[in-house]
Amino acid sequence: MKIGSKILVTGGAGYIGAHTVVELINAGYEPVIVDNLSASDKTLLAGIQQITGKTLSFHQGDCRDKNFLNFVFKAQGPFKCVMHFAAFKSVGESVQKPLLYHQNNVGSLLTLLEVMEENGVKDFIFSSSCTVYGQPDVIPVDERAPFKRAESPYGATKQLCERILEDVHHTGIRTISLRYFNPIGAHPSGLMGELPIGVPNNLVPFITQAAIGLRKKLTVFGNNYNTPDGSCIRDFIHVVDLANVHVKALEYLSTDTRKNVYDAFNVGTGKGASVLELVNTFIRATGAKLPFVIGPRRPGDVEKVYADPTRVNTILKWQARYSMEDALKHAWAWEQKLRKSN
Ligand code: UD1
Repeated sequence: MKIGSKILVTGGAGYIGAHTVVELINAGYEPVIVDNLSASDKTLLAGIQQITGKTLSFHQGDCRDKNFLNFVFKAQGPFKCVMHFAAFKSVGESVQKPLLYHQNNVGSLLTLLEVMEENGVKDFIFSSSCTVYGQPDVIPVDERAPFKRAESPYGATKQLCERILEDVHHTGIRTISLRYFNPIGAHPSGLMGELPIGVPNNLVPFITQAAIGLRKKLTVFGNNYNTPDGSCIRDFIHVVDLANVHVKALEYLSTDTRKNVYDAFNVGTGKGASVLELVNTFIRATGAKLPFVIGPRRPGDVEKVYADPTRVNTILKWQARYSMEDALKHAWAWEQKLRKSN
């Protein structure tokens, strides 16, 4: 175990947080997990323990609760860094419940920053999103692209949070924002993956649930976009690759001796793939039957976005290792395991 290696991971029982906890443990860090279990249960925590063989430090509570956070900082600190995954992430729901999204996503960040300041913790890694760019004018999009007006309250919260972090970097909070493109897949062990509550909003969990028979069919939202096959284009990145970049960001931040740091990195593969390409790759790679139909466009969807990952490749020295096909095979293995155990 490294000295001074405790990392606070908010949202560590969720999809990206849990995969990151595994990578942190593999790299010799000691994660302390905080999660209110509002969008997850303890399934992924059990998966982390099975994969790593480690007993986890887990505290159930909400990041808007200052007393709770102070308790964790005092009982478990000092923390070398805080990784903040805890947030609501459904674009559609955010349109229905904007106040809830602002209260939760912005409120928890503000409370966390106050508690960090009070406890002398400086280093922060933030889960941002490519959604901050809206529909960019230039693709692949790089980090200098302007923030267009966000398409949804969810997107607006990510823009606001980045702005807050940029403001507080002048007072000594040292932040790296990681702008995720579209995370997919599951842990190659088959012990951990995405676990949506209710009907999935995101493409890949919907696909695996349709293929296993939990949903009647997949609807592809639109085939009349201005793209080669008419469906939307995204940059799909394996969740383990995405988890790994957090360790790189942490190490980069700890070797950076500056008092004031604010930096943002795109985290994507740099390759765009269409929704229909992904659907066909899933069918070919897994041999599963996937009933699907073409439906109308989904309001708020961006036509086409993929990353220019030059900065994350060169500065954080990170490369995506897994292909889209790997990710889909892993997601399918996880879905099959889940349904067998239920
Ligand atoms: C969006 C956000 C992303 C955020 C993520 C969180 C944008 C541009 N991106 O990703 O930043 O992290 O939500 O949830 O706002 N699709 C179907 N059928 C389905 C489901 C999806 O065709 O049943 C299509 C969508 O129309 C889209 C693609 O699949 O073109 C990916 O959708 P999804 O997985 O929901 O992610 P995004 O909306 O791209």
